[in-house]
Amino acid sequence: MHVLVVGGGGREHALAWKIAGSPRVAKVSTTVANPGMLALGGQLASGDPLAWAQANGVDLVVVGPEGPLAEGLVDRLQAAGVPAFGPVAAAARLEASKSFAKAFMDGHGIPTARWSAHDDAVGAHAAVEGMGGACVVKADGLAAGKGVIVAADAAQAHAAVDEVFDGRFGAGGARVVVEERLVGPELSVLALCDGERAVPLMPARDHKRRFDGDLGPNTGGMGAVCPPRDVGPELVEQVRREVLQPVVDGMARQGVPFRGVLYAGLMLTADGPRVLEFNTRFGDPECQPLMLMLDEDLVPLLLDAAVGRLPDRPLRWRPGAACCVVVSTGAYPDGGPRGMPIHGLPAGDQRDARDLVVFQAGTAPDGDRVVVAGGRVLGVTAWGPDMDAARRRAYQGLRGIHFDTAAYRTDIGARA
Ligand code: AMP
Ligand code: GLY
Repeated sequence: MHVLVVGGGGREHALAWKIAGSPRVAKVSTTVANPGMLALGGQLASGDPLAWAQANGVDLVVVGPEGPLAEGLVDRLQAAGVPAFGPVAAAARLEASKSFAKAFMDGHGIPTARWSAHDDAVGAHAAVEGMGGACVVKADGLAAGKGVIVAADAAQAHAAVDEVFDGRFGAGGARVVVEERLVGPELSVLALCDGERAVPLMPARDHKRRFDGDLGPNTGGMGAVCPPRDVGPELVEQVRREVLQPVVDGMARQGVPFRGVLYAGLMLTADGPRVLEFNTRFGDPECQPLMLMLDEDLVPLLLDAAVGRLPDRPLRWRPGAACCVVVSTGAYPDGGPRGMPIHGLPAGDQRDARDLVVFQAGTAPDGDRVVVAGGRVLGVTAWGPDMDAARRRAYQGLRGIHFDTAAYRTDIGARA
């Protein structure tokens, strides 16, 4: 098979790496010149992914990021008869519109924070007062993970409302969601969905704040573990029963079968798990430790979800745990310098590596060198017989890698 992965971050490198390990796959191509992905031997797809897939005999397209999903790439691929993994645009609204997701959850009895949506600042400011000040202000649309402000008091919340309406988050900020502020540890439970069933993956946990001890600004994610130390199979089953399967059932009833990855971002509150958000794709960096843990061929599962039926059994996972430490630029999540050469990357395609893989995210080729091309640069991802061993191996693995301004958290996967 020839598989095309759309996207070029750490998530897509992890997917391409896992797909390349499938005995059914001859070639994995990519739409972005991520040197780690290109090392796997595929082609660089330029232009429209649909036209390229048709011209190059692609058997399956796997869409990584939310943007092309919301824009209807999977709808177009399906209409042209090209098998594609990912939801159609109407299903991707669960991520692309927070007010759609919140109304859907209320309508289907899925536990989430109290909320209201506002198209004007006056209503949003009143909602902040109604919440008693401490609340969460969210831009309604896609904002690259940055459109959420967790406000400690009314002054911060009012300022956040003004910021969103001032257009700081682009078109995504034309509408504001004001939400009750919940407390508790966070958890990501992702499931493969075939339109009828949600089959959960191993639970994972992102580390969203920039600095050790969960301090500093929110980021796209500074590291991830799988499974978290405090989460067992009962909790995953509860999330499947109370959240994931009801979403798939509810979407099917609305005439929009959900195929692809459904990602529930949860807060484990004293009253039970509550949904903070849905994503309609693999999480990044969560996908990186998940791909190291998955102990079966991913490709038949992607095909089953896209055009068939998923098997009626739990998926197979390696014992132990995996830990991904993101190496970012010093300035991340702000901009900052790019183009610095990266030294000490593992040679080759890492296809046979099982216990330590360096996934590339914000990197680019520059002649024979690999240079920094984004804020999150690498995801150093390791397996171990337990979380302590996994994180030790990940931190050992990143010791030999250097670039100017490189930064990372030292507490990914550490005991709370
Ligand atoms: P989201 O993009 O909606 O997942 O929000 C990003 C982050 O903001 C989450 O991972 C949480 O840390 C925080 N957050 C979002 N919603 C809430 C909420 N209702 N209460 C407390 N924290 C929240
Ligand atoms: N790591 C969080 C996300 O992918 O949205």
